[in-house]
Amino acid sequence: MDAGPIIWLNFLKLSNHVRLDKFICECTSLTRTLAKKALHRGDITCDGVVVKDSGFKVIKGMQVCLEGEPISLIGERYLMLNKPIDTICSTIDEVYPSVLSLLDIEKPETLHIAGRLDVDTTGLVLITSDGQWSHKITSPKKECGKRYLVNLAEPVDESLIPIFAAGIELRNEDGLTKPALLEIIEPNLVRLTITEGKYHQVKRMFAAQGNHVVGLHRESIGSIELDPRLDLGEWRYLTDAEIASI
Ligand code: URA
Repeated sequence: MDAGPIIWLNFLKLSNHVRLDKFICECTSLTRTLAKKALHRGDITCDGVVVKDSGFKVIKGMQVCLEGEPISLIGERYLMLNKPIDTICSTIDEVYPSVLSLLDIEKPETLHIAGRLDVDTTGLVLITSDGQWSHKITSPKKECGKRYLVNLAEPVDESLIPIFAAGIELRNEDGLTKPALLEIIEPNLVRLTITEGKYHQVKRMFAAQGNHVVGLHRESIGSIELDPRLDLGEWRYLTDAEIASI
């Protein structure tokens, strides 16, 4: 996906150009100080001409090179990952590595996770640099459905369907959970779709019914399905249609 125009649009809202030192920082891992040093060394060319002035105005369509290599704006990024167990949905490594450590891409620090999974949960994780987009996934008001495949310690039957649809009272929480859709595949294997993301919500919903979740896997968020071609730990960029579907 080419998100470059979005960034240009943001710059152009303010003016029709961007300062060269800012442009270099946006496109590379260089800090403003290192960008200035690269400029002073004569490592930067704009349309083939060496430019040493940090305040030089880069305009749309200009080719900027660092040591002869073209650099361009990264833009907003959207991707899906098939999360393995023993990784965490945090932006930093803690006891377990962050899911971001599975991404071999530039500037991972600009990314965040749109809806966390527990360390022992597998499946679909959406990762983005776009805060407004991720808000539509995580805000309970937006009622974005998240579908899970759930392995249970105890068998369940159809009588649980209306109970989950009516909402469950969770320990230490006021009120009921929002209506959830339960589909029974086998007595110990179900699909559950919820539109909230309370702490350990799926596990607590079944615990409230005296059951225990022994395996949890997220299959979809909204209409974005986990790509079956992705093995655990693999990722890909979202398509434009997937991005627009949220
Ligand atoms: N509900 C849980 O209990 N755990 C998850 O990882 C996701 C939803």
